[in-house]
Amino acid sequence: MTLERTLSIVKPDAVQKNLVGAVLAKLEAAGLRIVNTKMMRLTVGQAQAFYAVHRERPFYESLVTFMTSGPVVVSVLEGENAIARNREVMGATDPAKAAEGTIRKAYAESIERNAVHGSDAPETAKAEVAFFFSGCDL
Ligand code: CMP
Repeated sequence: MTLERTLSIVKPDAVQKNLVGAVLAKLEAAGLRIVNTKMMRLTVGQAQAFYAVHRERPFYESLVTFMTSGPVVVSVLEGENAIARNREVMGATDPAKAAEGTIRKAYAESIERNAVHGSDAPETAKAEVAFFFSGCDL
């Protein structure tokens, strides 16, 4: 058993549709504890930096525009195998491929407007948590 922390973002599409509580409820029901959470509007520079790993991808510019289109809710989640657990409850990136009962199956509109983000590995979780929260917050 590994107690882990991971970063979660409720994206602008889900915030706009008043689904913050519904998304966080699904994460909590999956056994993930919210260590800290905040609502914020990403600047273009912040969104570009956060998704820098995708900068060569054809969807990068559109992704940055989407992620800066409205507020997001950024949370640090903790639990047993939190990184994998969060990804399991989020479902596949493309909602058309997401399993029944997952957040993206229930709430995502498209592969881009897919309701939530979650860190994909221990190193990225560490970097993504540090991107949004300082040690004093956690
Ligand atoms: P996320 O888990 O936040 O990681 C990168 C994001 O890029 C992803 O969710 C989607 O919002 C977006 N994305 C990934 N693949 C595509 C794609 N093929 N077309 C458009 N957006 C994508």
